[in-house]
Amino acid sequence: MSVPSSGPTSALAKISSALTKLTDGAKALRNPFKKKAEEIALRVTGLHEVALAIFACVVVLNSDVFQEFRERDKEHQELLEMLEFLTTRVLNELAGEKNINNATREAISSLQQAVDDVETLLRSQGEESETKLVHIARNSLGDLRQRLDQQSHRFALVSVTQLTKDASARPNIPADLNRIKPPPKPAIFYGREDLVQTIVDLLLKDETCRVPLLGAGGIGKTALVTTILNDERVKNKFGQNVFFLSCESLISASAIILALASALGLQQDGGARQAVIHYLSSFKYVLLALDNFETAWDSDDRTEVEALLTEFAAVSSLSLFVTMRGALRPAGVDWTDRILNPLGSLSIDAARDMWMRIAKKADSKVDDLLRLLDGLPLAIMLMAQQGQVLSTMELFKSYNDERTALLSRGNASRLESLEISIELSLNSRTMQAERNARRLLSALCLLPNETSLSQFDRMLPSMPHSGRYVRVLLHAALAVNKAGKISTLSPIREFMLQKYPPEDADVADIRAHFTGLAHLVH
Ligand SMILES: Nc1ncnc2c1ncn2[C@@H]1O[C@H](COP(=O)(O)OP(=O)(O)OP(=O)(O)O)[C@@H](O)[C@H]1O
Ligand SMILES: [Mg+2]
Repeated sequence: MSVPSSGPTSALAKISSALTKLTDGAKALRNPFKKKAEEIALRVTGLHEVALAIFACVVVLNSDVFQEFRERDKEHQELLEMLEFLTTRVLNELAGEKNINNATREAISSLQQAVDDVETLLRSQGEESETKLVHIARNSLGDLRQRLDQQSHRFALVSVTQLTKDASARPNIPADLNRIKPPPKPAIFYGREDLVQTIVDLLLKDETCRVPLLGAGGIGKTALVTTILNDERVKNKFGQNVFFLSCESLISASAIILALASALGLQQDGGARQAVIHYLSSFKYVLLALDNFETAWDSDDRTEVEALLTEFAAVSSLSLFVTMRGALRPAGVDWTDRILNPLGSLSIDAARDMWMRIAKKADSKVDDLLRLLDGLPLAIMLMAQQGQVLSTMELFKSYNDERTALLSRGNASRLESLEISIELSLNSRTMQAERNARRLLSALCLLPNETSLSQFDRMLPSMPHSGRYVRVLLHAALAVNKAGKISTLSPIREFMLQKYPPEDADVADIRAHFTGLAHLVH
């Protein structure tokens, strides 16, 4: 544990500054609720001293007892910190209110209850009923936090309503926050522990962050972002102020705004954009994830979409995620430089873990089968599903016969079928804008993964400017550039060779290139 220090911690400093704000002016002191809150806040400060005094008594105990105490004390300290944080929030809410409403009164009594429960726990000194006391304290802190979060939503809605009410006579529609509630975290998630830790660390900092999660279809962008949004530490910091918008069918900036405004219950006419931005600005900390942002970005409305993103990024209380198929980050945002590269493949260990959790059985050949899938989570998931009913040898044979058609659960959605997922990328606007990009991808699938960008023009004389098309494939995340060498994931390769075989002229070019090389060698 970190021993509660006798000097003012930053939490205590925050309480103290909130108290100064609250009690600023003689009038405030006459308000009984503010007076009450002040007393409670001073009690919380006192609890810090209690924790310190208990620690000082126990230091003289023998080392076993001391160790046990340290463990227990860690939990106590965490609860105390939460209490200090929530106390500051109550004081700040109160300082901004002229007329104390019912919800705030309830928050004050909820705070009082939380202080009582945390104090009882701190003074229990390892009694048998301690687990129960921890539970009670957690419950009352959770109750308080929930009240405050609900209140923040209401305050924000009220202030936005007032702000925009003159702009339109139309009444606001009811909020449907469930539409932008983050989905639950994936039941199975392996191999990205370091990345999750890095992003969670970024989110826990005081300053906000802007994180692009890029990569191929099915590489796990949504799984990663939902894992992060459901992380307990993140939930603790952001409470209910976490919004997740699927942009899958939103192809313009105004479609994004309307979707957000309608889910938040803000007006939907010309003032909607300002209303959404104000709403987001009204939180101390707020998190917005725009999933499948490529649909909006890779559209005719790209300039407007980027301008909207810039506006979101300028909200200082907002931490922003976008997940996008592709490798290019939208312009206009100062993206965090900790996470810039597109998501890579899963390691063979993570792939095996996934397999075991889904198929529930394995044999010695399973690694060979998984290597064919090149660490693409969507492909691994779909293959492991088949692994529930087929042996590894049967799967090898079926994959050989059917190729990527095997990797489907029969439904026509990109999350159920690898082929549909790949087709979606092939049909993206980026790919459609360069007709030859798909042709180049087919030809690329015949080449070794070590081919460097500069070689393409020489290898494929029938396709002038092939280097340009390679860049398009990189942008669409259908190919990756690893230290100057262009490669594509095996499942994409299998799919292309089966569905869109290379053109004869390109096959002839490649054959001539390699035959020429062979002559040079001899
Ligand atoms: N690290 C992982 N461990 C286990 N399963 C994973 C992992 N990452 C993704 N998956 C699974 O793989 C499938 C595809 O993942 P996901 O939907 O996150 O991909 P995506 O990159 O968001 O795809 P798209 O570009 O189509 O939106 C899902 O079933 C998901 O649960
Ligand atoms: Mg996704």
